[in-house]
Amino acid sequence: MANKELTVLAFETSCDDTCASVVQCSKNSIKVLSNVVSSQIDIHKLYGGVVPEIASRNHALAIQTVYEEALQQAGVTLNEITHIAATVEPGLRGAVMVGRVFAESLATARNLPFVPVNHLAGHIASITLSHPEVKPPFTTLLVSGGHTSLYHVEGWQDIKLLCETCDDACGEAFDKVAKLLGLPYPGGVSIEKLLTQNTSWTEKDFMQFVQNPNFHKPHFTYSGLKTAVLNYVRKHEKKADFQQQIPHIVASFQHEAVEQLVVKCIENLSKTGNKILSVCGGVSANKYLRKRLSEECEKIGVKVLFPEFKYCTDNAAMIAAASILNVML
Ligand code: KG4
Ligand code: ZN
Repeated sequence: MANKELTVLAFETSCDDTCASVVQCSKNSIKVLSNVVSSQIDIHKLYGGVVPEIASRNHALAIQTVYEEALQQAGVTLNEITHIAATVEPGLRGAVMVGRVFAESLATARNLPFVPVNHLAGHIASITLSHPEVKPPFTTLLVSGGHTSLYHVEGWQDIKLLCETCDDACGEAFDKVAKLLGLPYPGGVSIEKLLTQNTSWTEKDFMQFVQNPNFHKPHFTYSGLKTAVLNYVRKHEKKADFQQQIPHIVASFQHEAVEQLVVKCIENLSKTGNKILSVCGGVSANKYLRKRLSEECEKIGVKVLFPEFKYCTDNAAMIAAASILNVML
């Protein structure tokens, strides 16, 4: 935590959410005063995924209102802000640019420091919003629509990549499988929603899409699983009972997608001896992932921490947190 009191105004516009947040931090506490998210999901749903140019244009339309709302909800004025932060990479170029230019212009006009933040560093720092007590060293699993990576956090400025996906990201696989089955974007959310009405399966009931999965590869991989689901669907979609099969297909997919994450986390935790695992990114909202990681971590004496749901998917409070901790990737 910071030695002096900081009041940060942060922006996040790297994908399809226009976000602004005010976070206050003193020596012993971090407090989110506002966390405004203007979602474009209903617009992108029409196309089955995010359309970059449409995302940029809608960020430009929303950002002034989102910014004013963040200050208003926090009950602060710009005079009380000590620095301004924004996501500067990685992300959709035009989308990132909207938030960055808005934030930098504001900082220049008000003579305030501007802190550029890496989006992934933001996700990693999100854990401190829900668990301010967490201190390095620990292991962190970042699992989102664009990334699937495991890191060793030795210090906030000393983060080492342990392994990452060699093809698709886990969230991307959720999105593509959902789209294939006619479920709305974002796929992770609609798959989970469908499965809340179908909770009676146990492990032995799941179909296995990838035969002989080698979980001990040095990386994550999701394109094989995605293609296996696609092949299964093409083979069975003409059958009369196909619609009734969909919950079983997505439950089996979810199980295989999650098990890969669990195996790799446990393997690395056993190697490094770290006793804390934090999980972040949009897919960390997944209840099945939370359950399976908690079960397996308990067996090896590792404490697993998740952000509150509102800090799993993209938000600007996590960007403020990273700017306060000065997280470097
Ligand atoms: O972190 P995020 O908001 O954006 C990126 O940085 O990518 O993550 C979005 C991803 C999407 O792929 C979405 O399908 C997935 O997170 N997601 C979920 C859940 N909620 C969001 N995946 C599985 N289960 C969920 N409950
Ligand atoms: Zn993200």
